[in-house]
Amino acid sequence: MKLAIRNAHIVNHDKKIRGDILIHNNRIETVGEVREKVDKEIDAQGKYVLPGFIDLHTHLRSPGREDTEDLYSGSRAAAKGGFTTIFCMPNTTPALDNEGLAQWITEQARSIGLVDIYPVGAISKGRQGKELTEFGGLKKAGCLSLSDDGDSLKNSSLMRRAIEYAKMFGLLIISHCEDKTLSAGGVMREGAISSKYGIRGIPCASEAIMVFRDIELTRYLNARIHIAHISTQRSVEIIRAAKAQGVNVTCETAPHYMILTDHDVEANNFHGNWKVNPPLGSHEDRAALTRALAEGVIDCIATDHAPHSEEEKNLPFEEAPCGFIGLEWAFALSYTGLVKKKVLTLGQLVEKMSYNPARIAGFSDKGYIRPENTADMVIVDLDCPEKIERTDIVSKSKNSPFLGREVQAKVVCTIHQGKVVYRAG
Ligand code: DOR
Ligand code: ZN
Repeated sequence: MKLAIRNAHIVNHDKKIRGDILIHNNRIETVGEVREKVDKEIDAQGKYVLPGFIDLHTHLRSPGREDTEDLYSGSRAAAKGGFTTIFCMPNTTPALDNEGLAQWITEQARSIGLVDIYPVGAISKGRQGKELTEFGGLKKAGCLSLSDDGDSLKNSSLMRRAIEYAKMFGLLIISHCEDKTLSAGGVMREGAISSKYGIRGIPCASEAIMVFRDIELTRYLNARIHIAHISTQRSVEIIRAAKAQGVNVTCETAPHYMILTDHDVEANNFHGNWKVNPPLGSHEDRAALTRALAEGVIDCIATDHAPHSEEEKNLPFEEAPCGFIGLEWAFALSYTGLVKKKVLTLGQLVEKMSYNPARIAGFSDKGYIRPENTADMVIVDLDCPEKIERTDIVSKSKNSPFLGREVQAKVVCTIHQGKVVYRAG
């Protein structure tokens, strides 16, 4: 099977060309000019072709909460958003903490076949923070990374062991940084707005303290670590300093931290759809995060796609669960909020959503459009204003603070391993 994409702007993080792409089965064969006859053609005149996006942080809720998302609906949401590879977090019920469950996810994902799904194994059994899981078994079952996401490992000694063993097994630790002794009971960022309404806040030190601890352990063990969803200016400063000193630390943030602040929580009457963990920060945090992204202190944009039911999100703010769906509009929101505003170039956005996540996950054949790489790519229209509509959501859950917002770009086609897995309209 040969597929040609013709007349496209082909954008890698470091290079832009105009031309064609020839895909042979699941591999890229040619980038440039394609003369030969093929089985199928896509005319991409006026459109941009980017390496498929890679999300290091999604929640697919399977097993346990398939009423809010499952591997199939999550795969469809990913494909619609231009993602060709996603990593699903282990805070499921039961927790994804064993070889059998990881194997099951790997097999299910393969049989669905829309996008690559890599299970993220739990670091501790039951995500209880007491005993480490079997890293070797999880790796054998397809895990490339481990996390107790949703919680930090309170016990620094256990975290030390986790970082050490992960290094031995060649696994990536993705750390959710939160000191629960500071954050417990808090429902939004501690600051002027939380004080004004007498709402229990989460101080930004809760994140920063754990970022510092995990970086310090990583430095001491000469290991590496990836910090999840950073949301504060202080975390950026700590990571910037560590990187300058050569610590092998990478990190991600999510579109909502670069677009929204705690003012949006107030402006939306403390509705559950604006509640997330870590919480939306201050204007200063948002400015620091976007700057850090442009400067390369923040390596990638992840979605932290966190589906929750409408009933739960409609509960009073204090009781509603944390998190937003994010897969379907991560690119459109980031393009609109960052590239259109000249914070990032399009190439830099590709770096944050494709190239760097591939590098961090250890894929040598993804994240870049070149001959021999896996044919994972996304075709986008960069001149297509549209409103984010509830009725367009393919995820089983609708909990987004961005409903009704206008974005300037649209994913029109997603190609996974040489097959079209999504087409708009
Ligand atoms: O907002 C969040 N939602 N933060 C997390 O760490 C977990 C996630 C979820 O699973 O809902
Ligand atoms: Zn998390």
